[in-house]
This record gives sequence, C-alpha cells and structure tokens, in this order.
Amino acid sequence: MTTISNTAPFVSAPAHPLPFGGEGVADTVGGFGVYVHWPFCKAKCPYCDFNSHVRLVPPDEARYIAAFRREIAHTRALSGPQRAQTVFFGGGTPSLMAPATVGAILEVINEAWPLTADAEVTLEANPTSVEAERFHGYRAAGVNRVSLGVQALDDADLQGLGRMHSVAEALAAVAIARRAFDRVSFDLIYARPRQTPDAWAAELRRALGEGCEHLSLYQLTIEPGTPFERLYGAGKLILPDDDLSRALWDVTQEVTAQAGLPAYEVSNHARPGAEARHNLVYWRYGTYAGIGAGAHGRLVSGNVRHATFTERSPEAWLKRVEADGHGIISDETLSAAEQADEMLLMGLRLTEGVDLARHARLGGRIDPERLATLQAEGLVAFKDGRLCATAAGFPVLNVVIATLAG
Ligand SMILES: C[S@@+](CC[C@H](N)C(=O)[O-])C[C@H]1O[C@@H](n2cnc3c(N)ncnc32)[C@H](O)[C@@H]1O
Ligand code: SF4
Repeated sequence: MTTISNTAPFVSAPAHPLPFGGEGVADTVGGFGVYVHWPFCKAKCPYCDFNSHVRLVPPDEARYIAAFRREIAHTRALSGPQRAQTVFFGGGTPSLMAPATVGAILEVINEAWPLTADAEVTLEANPTSVEAERFHGYRAAGVNRVSLGVQALDDADLQGLGRMHSVAEALAAVAIARRAFDRVSFDLIYARPRQTPDAWAAELRRALGEGCEHLSLYQLTIEPGTPFERLYGAGKLILPDDDLSRALWDVTQEVTAQAGLPAYEVSNHARPGAEARHNLVYWRYGTYAGIGAGAHGRLVSGNVRHATFTERSPEAWLKRVEADGHGIISDETLSAAEQADEMLLMGLRLTEGVDLARHARLGGRIDPERLATLQAEGLVAFKDGRLCATAAGFPVLNVVIATLAG
C-alpha cells in the first residue's frame, strides 16, 4: 500500500515562467496568512528534516527582529494590501524566542497586513518546562493558539525519538498551555517501532483525555538525510509493515471520531470549528507570505500567482536581508496547470475536498474516465458538489492524486 507523506505543510512547485491562465482573473479564494520561520532548536531530533539548526551561541534576537522587519516590508510590496487572517510562528522551535521578540514581530506584521479582529495567531512550542514558563508571555504578546510537539506519551519512545522532555513534563506543558490559551493543539507521531494498534489506541485515548480541541497525528516518516534514515537502512529501526500501518491508521480514525475530533485533513483532527485556520489557508490554496529562513510563500499580485522561497541557512538569510532587504532566492510565476495541480494536491488532503469549478477556472482538467474509475473503486466521491477522497481513498491519497493530476 502506498501511503502519503503526512508532514509536509505545503508543496513546492517547479519553476515555470508562464502567465496565470484561466479567465485572467485574480484567484483570491482561501484567505491570506503570514508564516514566520524560526530556524533554531536546542537539539536536532533524529527523525526531523525541517529547516532547523542547533547553534552553540544563541541567535541575536534584536538582529533577527530588524531583519524580519525588512523582509516583511519587501514582501508587503509584493503582496499588496491584505488583511492577515492568520499568523503562524513555525520552526524549528519558535518557543525559544523571547515573548518580547514575538510581540515585536507581530507588531510589524500588523503594520504591514493589519490583523483581522478574529485573527488566529499560532506559535509552535516544544513542551519543556523552560518553554512553558513563557506561555503567558506569548499570550500577552498576542499569540492566541499554541501547537505543542508532544510526539509520544511513552517515555521510552520519547527517548528513542531523541526528545528532551518526558511524558510528565509534556503533559504539564499542555496543562499550562490550556490555562494560558483558549486554543491548544498537540502533535503525536505514531507508527513508531514496536507500536501495536492496542497500545496506540490507549495512548490516543489518553491524549484525547487532555481535552484539547485539536490534534495533529503524524505517521513516522523516514526522511532522507536524517539519522533515522541511516538506522532504517542498516536494519536497526524496524517500522510497521503496510498491514500494521493500515491498522494504526484505522485506529486513529476510529478513536478520534468517537471522541468528537474527526479528521478534517489527512493528519489533523479537530472538534468541528476548531480546525487550524492557518493550515486551511494552505490546503484551500489561499495566499500566504513566507517570512524567515527557508520559508515558502504563495502571493497573488495582479492576476499572477508567485511561489516564493527564501534562503535556508539562517546566517546566509540574515546577511541577504541585511544587504538586499529580503532573503528571497526564488520567485517563480506559476502556470495555470501548476496552480491547478497544487490546488488539487492540497485540497484533496481535506475531508471537505475541492471545488472542481475553481480547479477548472485555474486551468485544470480532470480526465472523466480516470475520475469514473476512482469513483467506481470507491476512492473518491462528490459531496455538496465537491470532489472528496473517501475513507477508502485517504490511506492511498498519493495514488488518487497521481491518477487525477496525471
Ligand atoms: C516543525 S515540527 C515541530 C515543532 C517543535 N519543534 C517540536 O518538535 O516540538 C512539526 C511536527 O512535525 C512532526 N514531524 C517532524 N518530523 C517528522 C517525521 N519524520 N515523521 C513524522 N512526523 C514528523 C512532529 O510531530 C513535529 O511536532
Ligand atoms: S522535531 Fe522540532 S525540536 Fe526536533 S529538530 Fe524538528 S523542529 Fe527541532
């Protein structure tokens, strides 16, 4: 069985210097959000290939604030006037930033793209006691939602994942977060070595018992270039086979749905109404500014959609911004076909599916025979006029998307 990668927050598109197609009308569906990347961590987890770096000397936050200010001004000129419905501080480990730094960046964002009254402002945090002490400071700085990387409710497995916190410390951080914020989410990684469906069901029930409105549940993925890839290649890290992976997936769907937090996206579960609105901007193919080292953006200017990407190395990014006012190393115009493919790829991750009329307006075309075959196989269906993956289609979404987009 082919499973789909459930960790990538967005897809990077190949370069294609063609103008926007369809009807030549700017496509602004999906909202506008701002992503800010903080590329530092205390330690590098052996499974992780995010753009995160460990530095012996802590970064000079004042210098980073100045650089963020410049890159935001540059990106504002590209995006034109927008209201920010969401802001997301991702990493890396943004909870290593001082609350005052987060507050200063939010002020600059608000000047560039005034936040809507109900804007969602999320910060990713590691659940250590040191970081939990800052949660009230983040709240005062304007953050209204946190997403904690709990990863496992099993101490031996946390150690195996190279985490710097115990289960008790992580749950204490969740409790502090729940006092500081109305909206709390946490991440767990499943399909870990030796994990059985029963053990995962029990762990998941315990996680749901914490009473959070949102959970991100990722299947452990072996990423290229990580220590886990080397261990896996050497046969020292044994992962569940396809049947066991499928059983773990099924348990995930059943237990979360029973608890009232069904999947609304491949790896994301929420009480209805508590979905991560920032990530919905990606999945509904909205527009977003990507600020900081290694950040992706999708900006619509006039009737052209740009894919931007910034320098990944934090120090090189800083130097570029200080010299040129921004760290963007790639700014590509997406062709109509590329936009349609991206929209399909992102939208089918959602249980709400995609609006095929918009897909067609973007210039996309679905082969009716292939669609009919997928429908006959029960992998996709139409719901409220939208094309959706079914419960049978989700575990093989890669195949569904490849068939439709191919
Ligand atoms: C940017 S990271 C997390 C934030 C924070 N630094 C932390 O680790 O607590 C986002 C999430 O991606 C997930 N993740 C990262 N690498 C993964 C992998 N190889 N397989 C599955 N999930 C992964 C983890 O659950 C992690 O919390
Ligand atoms: S999982 Fe989080 S803490 Fe670990 S290296 Fe990746 S970004 Fe850093």
